[in-house]
Amino acid sequence: MERHYAIAIDGPAASGKSTAAKGVSKILDFLYIDTGAMYRAFTLYMMEQGKDPKKEEDALLLLPSFEMSEDSKGHVYLFKEDVTKRVRERDVSALVSYACAYKAVREKMVEIQRAMAERNSVVMDGRDIGTVVLPHADLKIYQVASVKARAKRRYLENQEKGIPCSLKEIEEDIEKRDYIDSHRENSPLTKAEDAILLDTSEMTIQEEIETIVSLFRKKVGESWKDTEQSH
Ligand code: DC
Repeated sequence: MERHYAIAIDGPAASGKSTAAKGVSKILDFLYIDTGAMYRAFTLYMMEQGKDPKKEEDALLLLPSFEMSEDSKGHVYLFKEDVTKRVRERDVSALVSYACAYKAVREKMVEIQRAMAERNSVVMDGRDIGTVVLPHADLKIYQVASVKARAKRRYLENQEKGIPCSLKEIEEDIEKRDYIDSHRENSPLTKAEDAILLDTSEMTIQEEIETIVSLFRKKVGESWKDTEQSH
């Protein structure tokens, strides 16, 4: 059976994980999976159905009918609709911390995430990838960056995508979300013991990508070279 590889990238909101993960997946030809987008898509689904993401009973009601997918370009679909941009907007961002906290929601997402990693070599980014979703990942990165550096990155990312925003609002949102994410019971954001801590505040995206790719190559060594030659 073909050997599948997995790289887990965890860290707080807007630490540059998704841009780095996307870049790494391109170089290694792995599937990129944005797990935050899955929780965001579910939050949007609740909102569109007139339900309240702050209510667990509402989440449980909709969970069985929820269907989403991601393609290799990082596009996110809620049922058949492309919601890639929509899930990043402020109203969804403000409510996702609630919807992603419910046990049943997390269990369903983890199941989908593991199934994707079983069928493909993946770069998966999120909060609990190295600890819960893929505890046997070949490489685990725990990525951090200062609030200022993170806000600036998200601001530029939003501008690129044509999403209106202000830098100050983003800074406030990130601080608030860090607070909710780290203070809730059973917070998913924990560094796996065997994860490598990467502070990217002073790094360019390119440096980040190169660092992760070279850590991966070092980690898997000969087995990776064998696979590369057989392509
Ligand atoms: O990475 P992001 O900002 O798109 O994540 C959106 C929300 O989803 C954030 O509040 C944390 C949560 N999340 C999670 O609980 N577990 C994950 N694996 C990924 C994201």
